[in-house]
Amino acid sequence: MTEIKLCVTESADAVLVEQISKKLNIKPQDEAEMDDSLYLKVDESGVSLKKGKLEMQGDFSKLLNRVKPGKISQEILLKAAKFKGATKVLKAIDATAGMGEDSFILAAAGFDVTLFEKDPIIGILLEDALRRASRDEELSKIVARMHFMEGDSIEYMRKCKDDIDLIYLDPMFPERTKSGLIKKKFQLLGQLEAPATDGEEMFAAARNVNPVKIVIKRPAKGENLGGIKPHYSIDGKAIRYDCFVFPRS
Ligand SMILES: C[S@@+](CC[C@H](N)C(=O)[O-])C[C@H]1O[C@@H](n2cnc3c(N)ncnc32)[C@H](O)[C@@H]1O
Repeated sequence: MTEIKLCVTESADAVLVEQISKKLNIKPQDEAEMDDSLYLKVDESGVSLKKGKLEMQGDFSKLLNRVKPGKISQEILLKAAKFKGATKVLKAIDATAGMGEDSFILAAAGFDVTLFEKDPIIGILLEDALRRASRDEELSKIVARMHFMEGDSIEYMRKCKDDIDLIYLDPMFPERTKSGLIKKKFQLLGQLEAPATDGEEMFAAARNVNPVKIVIKRPAKGENLGGIKPHYSIDGKAIRYDCFVFPRS
């Protein structure tokens, strides 16, 4: 696992600090001792990931503007995840949750989403962002439909017997090119060890769940995940969504 330190201020939630310290098996230190290390900082605002001058914290309120009525229908993820004439709450698995932003868009559109994240550090940041959002009047209605699960989604999907409508896969963070060109968030998350994800294996596990639809986010010109050709794609400027549909009789 990525080497990481933990720094805590006096105003931090002691129970949260104890949980993180136990989970990552690291002792809290003073911020002055961090030098150029990658570290989690816990203070009254929650948990953030820091290194030098870079800092990031999950914040779903930044997405509220995108999910306003009249705006949300412009989200190309939702064009890809569309179900015609759905008469029930649609159940989705986000098998590669990251900071949960795509899941938030799905949940805002009414999907009930189970989010899997296998990196414990990203899991801590995501859980913290969900916890803070659950205390916010506007966000709480959306995040109530987001259920975080720490662990490997491939293992879960191989055994899953639940009735799932949609499986969403977005396994790759943008490649580190010229750091100035990628968002601060990705510069920091890119410091974490990327999990080895075999696209073919992930797709096979998703198929095993027998969902009606699988949607895969890819770079616009990226190869198909696991080399598997989609039924159709929805193209955006920098990304595309590869869609697979398996209608049930
Ligand atoms: C590109 S990020 C996803 C970003 C996300 N769509 C969002 O909107 O924030 C990919 C994430 O998938 C996670 N991941 C990759 N393989 C996984 C697996 N088998 N199980 C659970 N999480 C996985 C990685 O740790 C990483 O955080």
